[in-house]
Amino acid sequence: MIIDGKKSAEELRKELKKKIIELKSDFNAVPALTVILVGDDPASKIYVKNKEKFAKEIGINSEVIRYPSNVEEKTVLEKIIELNKNKNISGILVQLPLPEHINKRKVIETILPNKDVDGFHPINVGNLSSGYKGNIPCTPHGCYLLLKGIEKSLSGKHAIIIGRSNLNGKPMAQLLLKENCTVTITHSKTKDLKEECRRADIIIAAVGRPKLVKGDWVKKGAIVIDVGINKTDSGIVGDVDFEEVSKVARAITPVPGGVGPMTIACLLQNTIECFKKSNF
Ligand code: GUN
Repeated sequence: MIIDGKKSAEELRKELKKKIIELKSDFNAVPALTVILVGDDPASKIYVKNKEKFAKEIGINSEVIRYPSNVEEKTVLEKIIELNKNKNISGILVQLPLPEHINKRKVIETILPNKDVDGFHPINVGNLSSGYKGNIPCTPHGCYLLLKGIEKSLSGKHAIIIGRSNLNGKPMAQLLLKENCTVTITHSKTKDLKEECRRADIIIAAVGRPKLVKGDWVKKGAIVIDVGINKTDSGIVGDVDFEEVSKVARAITPVPGGVGPMTIACLLQNTIECFKKSNF
C-alpha cells in the first residue's frame, strides 16, 4: 500500500479551512503566519512558497519577510521581537538552515513559545518530552498522523528512527513513546543499521541519505515512513529505496507526495492553535 500524503494533507486542510471560518465568525479575526526567509537556498525558497500558498488557500493571513544572506543577526532578532509583540501575528517561522553567522539557537529562543509554530523552542521541546501540551514539530507530527491513519493502535510496536535531529528524529521518538511504541533511535555511529531495521515494525527514515534503506533491511509487513528529500541526478528521491522496499512493506510513503504535504498541513494546524491560545 502506498500512503497518499497528498490526499491526507488535503483532507486535513479542508478541516482547517472550516475551523478558520468558525474562528472568523467568533473572533472577527483570522490566524496570521509570518515566515522569515534568509538567503536564497533553492530548496528553502520552494518550501516557503508552498507554506505561503497553502496558508492563504485555507484563509490564514500569510506574509514572508525576505532578507539577503548577509543580513545581520541583530536585524533578524529585532524583527522577531517586533513580531512577538504584534497581537495580529499568531505564528512565526524562521526557515532553516540559516547562514553560519546567524546563531540558530538564539533565533529559535527569541520566538515566543506560544508563537513558535515549528515547536523548536526549548519550552515546546520540553513540553513534548514531558507529555504536556505544546506546539509539535510539523514533520514528525505529519509522520505520526500518517502512521495513525494506517494503524490505530501503535502500542507495543517496535519503531526504528534513522536520524537523531532536533527537527525530526528526537521529536518523532517522543510522539511514538507516547503511543507506547518501543523506540530505537539510530544514527551515524549505530553499529548494524540493517539489523536494527530488520527488527522493526515501523521504520522512520529521516537522515538525508538517498535510497539508504534497501528491500532486505525491512521486515515483511513493516510500515515505512520516508522523510528524506534528496536531490540526485535522477531526480528527487527519499532515504528509502522505494522500488525495493515497496515490495516487502505493508505500507510506505512515496517521495514526493508522502510526508512533505503533511508537514505543511501540520504547520497550518499549529498556526491555528497559536491563534486560539492568543484569543481564548
Ligand atoms: N527547514 C527544513 N524543514 C524545516 C521546518 O520544518 N521548519 C523550519 N523552520 N525550517 C525547516
